[in-house]
Amino acid sequence: MTMKEDPVLVAYGSKRGGTAEIAEWIAAALRSEHVAAESKSADEIHSLDGYCAVVLGGALYAGRWHGQARRFTRRFTRQLRERPVWLFGSGPLDDSADLSDPRKVPGTNGVRKAAERLGAREYAIFGGRLTPDARGFPASAMAKTHAGDFRNKERITAWAADIATQLTYQTR
Ligand SMILES: Cc1cc2nc3c(=O)[nH]c(=O)nc-3n(C[C@H](O)[C@H](O)[C@H](O)COP(=O)(O)O)c2cc1C
Repeated sequence: MTMKEDPVLVAYGSKRGGTAEIAEWIAAALRSEHVAAESKSADEIHSLDGYCAVVLGGALYAGRWHGQARRFTRRFTRQLRERPVWLFGSGPLDDSADLSDPRKVPGTNGVRKAAERLGAREYAIFGGRLTPDARGFPASAMAKTHAGDFRNKERITAWAADIATQLTYQTR
């Protein structure tokens, strides 16, 4: 049993912290719209009881949504279908996520399919971040040419504010 006053869970799969920070921005934006929210790593979650809605995000690596995000959708399929759900991916190391239709951004099929499977309200693709000092191969090699922060905080915050509006005015 969940109540509208229960918090929104903002769960994330993140390897280098960029997507985790987006989840924190979303939770903070929800709270500033008077919607209780907490952000947590997807693998830390063992039940969705007590959460009224879920925002699930994952980094995009090698054309796939982060494993923790994929696993989360499998572990909680039934509970997710019973709640309002929004999904996001974070990846492109350029402006493409902000400029184009998300279906045209490479590697986002998994997010779209999960959204269809779960009956999500919406999915969004945001730019990613790769720091110049990223460790490990091939990230360190990629960082030589693609380092930068392409996460559009304004767009992300506006997306979260829209979620807050939908949750506030929904009739259930
Ligand atoms: C090895 C590697 C592979 C990547 N593959 C993709 C990809 O297929 N599609 C994409 O949009 N972004 C890709 N990226 C960019 C990451 O998604 C981006 O850096 C993201 O912000 C990482 O999130 P995290 O900091 O939460 O791990 C890749 C980055 C690395 C280092």
